[in-house]
Amino acid sequence: MKGAHFLVAFLLLVLSSSYVFAYDPSSLQDFCVAINGSKDGVFVNGKFCKNPNLTVAEDFFFPGLNVPGNTGNRVGSNVTLVNVDRIPGLNTLGISLARLDFAPYGGLNPPHIHPRGTEILVVVEGTLYVGFVTSNPNRLFTKVLYPGDVFVFPIGLIHFQFNIAKTNAVAFAGLSSQNPGVITIADAIFGPKPPINPDVLAKAFQLDKDMVEKLQKLFENA
Ligand SMILES: *[C@@H]1O[C@H](CO)[C@@H](O)[C@H](O)[C@H]1NC(C)=O
Ligand SMILES: *[C@@H]1O[C@H](CO)[C@@H](O)[C@H](O)[C@H]1NC(C)=O
Ligand SMILES: *[C@@H]1O[C@H](CO)[C@@H](O)[C@H](O)[C@H]1NC(C)=O
Repeated sequence: MKGAHFLVAFLLLVLSSSYVFAYDPSSLQDFCVAINGSKDGVFVNGKFCKNPNLTVAEDFFFPGLNVPGNTGNRVGSNVTLVNVDRIPGLNTLGISLARLDFAPYGGLNPPHIHPRGTEILVVVEGTLYVGFVTSNPNRLFTKVLYPGDVFVFPIGLIHFQFNIAKTNAVAFAGLSSQNPGVITIADAIFGPKPPINPDVLAKAFQLDKDMVEKLQKLFENA
């Protein structure tokens, strides 16, 4: 009887631990093509580590997130990302930070994905209409956020933030990766180099080929 209890406990432990670890290790780059030798390879999933004896406070420091990004661009927003490239001490810690600035009425952080990070955002100034879309079948979740409001955008889902007020908007966001990455949907679809065959996009988006080519021109140098 005691043995049976032990077996059940053991099986539960095995099941729960395999459940907990039933996830690929997180990647810190878009891809990692396998190579046998190290001569032609690069070190991945993190950077080389500095000798801890030589580490200084500056390795964990970034000044200037009080400075607004310039929103004078085609979307009227600017994201200042403080990731491992700007704070080397973030290496292997799975976290980064961003400041988001939005021009008055209509400043948009266009629909995009962070392939490697969940985002938690807090509005400190202005009013943002934000949302994300689930994987198929696609459900939209939206919310209007005011100063002090917090919203979460789960890893890998398409999301956006839109300034719907007549004032600037400012938000800060934490991301659960030292290098969350970003794929801006419109740019990735209509502006990659080389461009995607317009027949593919015409069918996928149910658009005239002329319209597709017009969009490709628009995003070509965006
Ligand atoms: C790596 O080595 C294995 C065994 O020698 C070989 O079969 C394979 O093709 C090699 N892969 C690459 C990418 O060179
Ligand atoms: C760091 O300093 C300690 C104490 O001086 C020393 O024992 C250790 O080898 C040093 N570590 C490295 C990686 O240099
Ligand atoms: C964001 O703002 C910075 C600082 O003003 C500026 O250098 C950068 O070009 C801006 N980025 C975009 C996409 O407008």
